Amino acid sequence: MGDLAVVVGATGGVGAALATALATAGHNVVALGRATTPPLDLLDEASIAAAAAHVAAQGTLRLVIDATGFLHGDGFEPERSWRDLDPAHMARAFAVNAIGPALLMKHFLPLLPRQGPSVFATLSARVGSIGDNRLGGWYAYRASKAALNQLVRTAAIELRRRAPEAVCVALHPGTVATPLSAPFARAGLAVRPAEEAAADLLRVITALGPADSGTFLDHKGLPIPW
Ligand SMILES: NC(=O)c1ccc[n+]([C@@H]2O[C@H](COP(=O)([O-])OP(=O)(O)OC[C@H]3O[C@@H](n4cnc5c(N)ncnc54)[C@H](OP(=O)(O)O)[C@@H]3O)[C@@H](O)[C@H]2O)c1
Repeated sequence: MGDLAVVVGATGGVGAALATALATAGHNVVALGRATTPPLDLLDEASIAAAAAHVAAQGTLRLVIDATGFLHGDGFEPERSWRDLDPAHMARAFAVNAIGPALLMKHFLPLLPRQGPSVFATLSARVGSIGDNRLGGWYAYRASKAALNQLVRTAAIELRRRAPEAVCVALHPGTVATPLSAPFARAGLAVRPAEEAAADLLRVITALGPADSGTFLDHKGLPIPW
């Protein structure tokens, strides 16, 4: 059985580009998402456990990239003011951006081999940085990505004890042309192609070593303040 690379959120803009780039580079890719077989829905832990069991039966897992995320949709827009704060919107953002990825850690980190290099990378966002927050707004997205960053840091500490060469990181993909950024690109935000972002992210992932575990890096491999 060969080494496997898993992309969760493989139907998304960045996730699809990552899965294609990995397959083109000769990796054995398992693409997972709500519309795949088996389906993986971050809001349904049983589906995450079943997808992890499916992966475990197929080979040795060396790479997991979580490219899922939620910014807007189903009537929810990023908040401009505290006046817009809505518990249902906040719960959805935390469920998809923080709790879901935490459940991916719960079910996929134990599959990383105890020996040899491996990576679990989750796509966070620079706006999740507390130290870098100068503009305000986007309360639920920012706070849920900040929570994700803390989960990455915490899991990296536990992972190091079990698999010293394994790496758990949060990565910022840059501002990318995807459904997630589309409303803001229309309003003038500069975006770049998902293929470019995927190539950058894979370069960063390839260069990761154990000392990078528990960090928050951008698409150039530069650290972002927590
Ligand atoms: N685009 C940017 O400019 C940008 C900037 C900074 C950070 N990011 C981060 O990069 C990551 C990828 O974003 P993107 O731009 O590629 O967004 P996207 O095209 O909207 O893709 C989002 C992905 O998340 C999946 N997803 C949402 N809810 C889910 C759930 N309950 N269970 C399983 N999957 C779920 C979607 O699956 P479905 O196809 O099933 O809906 C889709 O695959 C996100 O973490 C985002 O926060 C993006």
